[in-house]
Formats: sequence, structure tokens, C-alpha cells
Amino acid sequence: MIFIKSPEEIDKIKRACEIVAQVFLDIEKYIKPGITTAEIDEIGEKLIISYGGRPAFKGYRGYQYATCISVNSEVVHGIPSPKKVLAEGDIVGLDMGAINQGYYSDMARTYPVGKVSKQAKLLLKCGREALTIAIGKVRPGVRLGDVSSSIERHAKAHGYSVVKDLFGHGIGQNMHEDPLIPNYGVAGEGVELRPGMTLAIEPMLNVGGSAIITLSDGWTVVTKDRSLSAHFEDTVLVTDNGVEILTCQKKT
Ligand code: MF3
Ligand code: CO
Repeated sequence: MIFIKSPEEIDKIKRACEIVAQVFLDIEKYIKPGITTAEIDEIGEKLIISYGGRPAFKGYRGYQYATCISVNSEVVHGIPSPKKVLAEGDIVGLDMGAINQGYYSDMARTYPVGKVSKQAKLLLKCGREALTIAIGKVRPGVRLGDVSSSIERHAKAHGYSVVKDLFGHGIGQNMHEDPLIPNYGVAGEGVELRPGMTLAIEPMLNVGGSAIITLSDGWTVVTKDRSLSAHFEDTVLVTDNGVEILTCQKKT
């Protein structure tokens, strides 16, 4: 069941998205060699609260943190830890959501830590582009497969694979709503997009194969071949004639 959001609901989702987008802007400067992922989580949580939101991930299926922080071959759902220190050359995926008046936002970015390898830089560039391209497909009348397939096409063109076992999703009064949004698909197939749908689109690209495994902590997802992985996510709204990126980072 895909919910079409009312203008009132959209306003609440928009604010949840503004909060998390602002937190990303604020937190970037802390992503440096020497910081622990637990410290980043703590800063993220404080910032979300300072802007009037609630951390969306905390308490979700027993998850205890405001953020997921995934380093190098970790794809998503990395658990913040005081033992995990970022080092020069790492890439770090930061995933956060906020709740505002019962409505959710979801957003992720993968950052270089200090100077990174050319391979890492190219992966980040392609992942970022894949998200931009996918969002560029979104408008009423388009099929979900048009969006999904554009992600895999772009990844493949640059020699990367996409994660096939995890998905983007609708979002609203729940973090995860229909439809599932794969990072692969067939153009022209799938659900037709309509104004008022709110979607979290989240390409996950791997340098190696697409296979993933979940570590024994029950959360951390890594690439099976331990190759580098990058994750980018925005929450977007299907408008009457196109798309609005709700987690847009307008610098002020
Ligand atoms: N941001 C993730 C997603 O897109 C969800 C995080 S799982 C949580 O689907 F448990 F950390 F919340
Ligand atoms: Co998501």
C-alpha cells in the first residue's frame, strides 16, 4: 500500500528532512582522522535534538544509536563504537534520520576521511552521481523501474556493482513504507509514480561483487569480498510536475 501524502503530512516530512540535512552540513567538519564513530554518533544525536527532531533510528527494531556509520567495506548499518577510530584514507558512510511530529526523514552520505585513494574517490563520485541521476528520473507517470535501472546502469558503466539485497523505500509515518526501491530494475516496469509519494532513494555501490553479509553483531552489513562500498540516500517528494529533494542541503 503506497500512501499519497497530504499537504499537511508533506509539511511535516519536509521539516524532518530539513533537520537531517542541516545536521549533515554541521557534522561534516568532524569527519577527520582520529574521531571515533561513537563520537560522531553522539554529535549527530545532539544536533538532531537541537533542531527539534528525534533520532529516527534510535529504538528502531532495538537499534540503540541515532546514526549508522559504515567504514570502507561496510555497506550500511555499521554500529557506532568508541573503539572505531577513523583513519586517513578511510571512506565513511553516515546514515541518519529524524522524526518530526510523527513523520520520518532518511538520508545518507559517504565521505572521504582525509586524503583517500583514487579508487575510493571514483567510487564516491559514481555513488553520488547515481543518486543524482536516479532522482532526476522521478516525476509523475514514470515507473519505479525507470528510477531503479538508472542506478545500476550508471554503476555498471563505471565498473561497480550494486547491492541487490537492500532497498530504498517509501517513507512517511514509518521509516520504511512501500514501495521497495531496488538499485536495479527494468525501465518501464514497476509502480507508476504519482504526486504526493515520498521516497527514500539509496544507491549502494561496491567496487567488487554485489554480495553482502551481515556480521555477528546482527547489524553491520559488509561486502562479502570486503571490497569498498559507498551509500548515498535522499528523501524526495514526487511533485505535480517533477521531484523535490526534501533532504536538499541548501547552504546558508
Ligand atoms: N537508514 C536505514 C534505511 O534506509 C535504516 C537504518 S536501520 C536502523 O533503511 F536500525 F538503524 F534504524
Ligand atoms: Co533508507
